[in-house]
Amino acid sequence: MSRGEPALAEATRAALRYVPTAVAVVTAVREGEARGITISAFTSVSLEPPTLSICINRRARSYLYIAHSRRFALNVLAADQREIAERFSGKRRERQFEGLATVAGLGDIPLVSGALAHFQCVVAAEHEVGSHSIFIAEIERAAHHPGEPLGYFDGAFRTFALERVP
Ligand SMILES: Cc1cc2nc3c(=O)[nH]c(=O)nc-3n(C[C@H](O)[C@H](O)[C@H](O)COP(=O)(O)O)c2cc1C
Repeated sequence: MSRGEPALAEATRAALRYVPTAVAVVTAVREGEARGITISAFTSVSLEPPTLSICINRRARSYLYIAHSRRFALNVLAADQREIAERFSGKRRERQFEGLATVAGLGDIPLVSGALAHFQCVVAAEHEVGSHSIFIAEIERAAHHPGEPLGYFDGAFRTFALERVP
């Protein structure tokens, strides 16, 4: 298999199912309207200055909210927030936030209540890579609340078994 072959893309997709990840909702506001997207592609980048990255499909509706406002919040979900992960990975056009507990963060961006961690960010750079854009963003505020994380592995939402490895 080599680069550009459909078989390689399929093998990559299949192998990525076996990469366990945390799950987060990225929220952003554009012209007064909030939007969120469930993602697993996020990572810490630097502490000096505090920086993280997210990867967003440029076809996702949320992409323009982030790219234009250049601000977002990353809400890392707790194990009991599976419904929220599903809500923001569906194709809901409207009322994404209906009945959802949030508090307003910087720039009025909704922070999902009950999330394990919140990072409020300003975009520092965008790199287009294939179908996605990597946003590198400086963290302006960070907060956390102890709890159990929501995970994703082999096509399903899961809890993490948090026992320490002996
Ligand atoms: C567990 C999980 C992880 C996901 N990770 C990402 C991701 O890292 N980046 C991305 O662009 N989409 C990701 N998605 C897909 C988006 O959530 C999905 O395409 C969403 O419907 C796009 O919504 P929008 O077009 O309304 O913005 C993920 C979905 C799930 C269920």
